[in-house]
Amino acid sequence: MVYVHNLTKRYGNLTAVENLSFQLERGDVLGFLGPNGAGKTTTMRIITGYMPPTKGTVHIEGVDIFDEPLQAKRVIGYLPENPPLYNDMTVMEYLSFVADIKKVGRKEKKSRIFYVMERCGIAEVRRRIIGHLSKGYRQRVGIAQALVNNPSVLILDEPTIGLDPRQIIEIRELIKSLSGDRTVILSTHILPEVTMICSKVIIINHGKIVLEESLQKLSEDMRSAESILLRTRQNGEGVVEKIHALGNVSSVKPGAAGEYIIVPRKGAEVREELSRLAVENDWGLLELRPVTNTLEEVFLKVISSEGN
Ligand SMILES: Nc1ncnc2c1ncn2[C@@H]1O[C@H](COP(=O)(O)OP(=O)(O)O)[C@@H](O)[C@H]1O
Ligand SMILES: [Mg+2]
Repeated sequence: MVYVHNLTKRYGNLTAVENLSFQLERGDVLGFLGPNGAGKTTTMRIITGYMPPTKGTVHIEGVDIFDEPLQAKRVIGYLPENPPLYNDMTVMEYLSFVADIKKVGRKEKKSRIFYVMERCGIAEVRRRIIGHLSKGYRQRVGIAQALVNNPSVLILDEPTIGLDPRQIIEIRELIKSLSGDRTVILSTHILPEVTMICSKVIIINHGKIVLEESLQKLSEDMRSAESILLRTRQNGEGVVEKIHALGNVSSVKPGAAGEYIIVPRKGAEVREELSRLAVENDWGLLELRPVTNTLEEVFLKVISSEGN
């Protein structure tokens, strides 16, 4: 379990994180989302005990990370934004080095290292020098070092950044397969990544939570907030007014080239009436279809409304 309460971090005059609170259970995979500079890395450094907060508390599996950092860190696996890979070590030397730092027991060390190498798909490069590996492989080594102590809480700071599309897919698959009964926090500014991997999402902006939701609820909300795209031959006179007059319509926005975006009142179905209206008025109906809100739109909405 990860329990974060009223976390605040100031760098001089800048408040990077402000009164952040959330709680995660085992099995939760949190997408920690926000634009650059939102405070994601700062939050993760605090949660993992690498930096003290200005204010607030963090408990990892019931242990206070600031009161008992060694004990708390034992159950954490952390992939920092820039993992400190030792470029002149081989993969296996490096993992052995990390296992020692993390006090992995002598007896289990070797099997643990082989297990994470297998798991992360780096067994075949175990004797290669890290500095000679591709970015995708280096990222796998970064994830492997986070896993070497068999952590119940896995914290990954932008794990797919800088990878090519094929590597991104592979790393996402890997992360998905790692979740299980762990608690995973994954920061990203890539929205589809969240829908693909996560069960929960927190969006932060300027250090504050602007949205916290389970992905299931979020997708339900996005579906129910569906609007309708009506495309006609050309923008005609009085179309907007006539659509409004149907009732059950909360807004009509004309777009380019004969397009209208219609938002029905909650739960109302207006497509049939709309198509009849378009035909009766000879607007030249070309298209009528629902448009689902994407996570991207939700993101932009919460980010921009928060700024006002
Ligand atoms: N060590 C630091 N000293 C001063 N300001 C910092 C430091 N680290 C981060 N910041 C600032 O804090 C804010 C949050 O940064 P960061 O946590 O890195 O955001 P993110 O990871 O979401 O991009 C930014 O405005 C950043 O410039
Ligand atoms: Mg960051």
